[in-house]
Amino acid sequence: MKPVARLNFAHLPTPIEELPRLTKALGGPRILVKRDDQTGLAFGGNKTRKLEFLVAEAREQGADMLISAGAIQSNHCRQTVAAAARFGFACTLVLTGERPSQPTANFLLDQLFGAEIITVPDRKDRDRVLQETFDKAVAVGKKPYLVPYGGSSSTGAMGYTFAMEELIKQNVNADWIVFGTSSGGTHAGIVLGQRLFGFKGKALGISIDEPVDQLKANVFALATRASEKLGERIEFTGDHVLANDDYCQAGYGVFGEGEREAIKLFASNEGLLLDPVYTGRAAAGMIDLIRKGYFRKNETILFWHTGGQPALFADKYSADVIRN
Ligand SMILES: Cc1ncc(COP(=O)(O)O)c(C=O)c1O
Repeated sequence: MKPVARLNFAHLPTPIEELPRLTKALGGPRILVKRDDQTGLAFGGNKTRKLEFLVAEAREQGADMLISAGAIQSNHCRQTVAAAARFGFACTLVLTGERPSQPTANFLLDQLFGAEIITVPDRKDRDRVLQETFDKAVAVGKKPYLVPYGGSSSTGAMGYTFAMEELIKQNVNADWIVFGTSSGGTHAGIVLGQRLFGFKGKALGISIDEPVDQLKANVFALATRASEKLGERIEFTGDHVLANDDYCQAGYGVFGEGEREAIKLFASNEGLLLDPVYTGRAAAGMIDLIRKGYFRKNETILFWHTGGQPALFADKYSADVIRN
């Protein structure tokens, strides 16, 4: 395998815990959780693993500034600017949505870590503003590195490729991995790592905001490109990607009954926090599939927690989360 530059700052391996009370409340199958909400770096989350490779690449390219984009309450942006602070880069974030009147949650933390923030009310303008931001930085002599949306390039996907190696070494024999998937980097890494390190179970991504065909096309292309980076191209297709888009109809970040129930079930049975946008939705999907008998009772599901809990404290969600 070709070596890939990496900075080792994540807290790894992340623990795997049993969730016996949740398992009982749902009447089986056995549920485990892999705590990637504990990866370190500004409250942790899945982006820490990606940023180990992305920041290493930025350094290799001689960059002195990170530029990225996301929603106002983006976890990816919060962790990117934290990495910028930690490794001495300037950072500009292009955030889509109306600028909140109060700085809360990730939007507050972005400022604490020193991001220059540009808000773009309409998402259709995002890519143009991102490009202009990049060009302006170059024009004034900066050396910006564009951290892709969600950290999901072939470089970012390395994070979850090697997370699969970590998981296999932890010897848990899960029949299923269930996780939230959106920009595809986590999913692509899992698909590639599954192949490279020989994971025997199935990996099911619950779509947060993408129709399944689009999601699969993105994930298998990314997994293929990521395999090339490691020296041997593997031709992935849609058949290698397992995904479900039954739980994202309401749209990105729209908080509903499923998310509320999932957050409450995890919190009240296990003292474990999910987030309103990603893990809440992914867990809602997993819970519904358990109830529908999608998994066999004697199987083991590993719910891969990808972080995001700071968003619980966003104005947009906090009241809704505890509403009965
Ligand atoms: C908490 C959390 N979980 C899951 C995801 C989805 O990961 P990916 O964008 O790699 O599909 C994100 C993306 O921002 C996230 O913030």
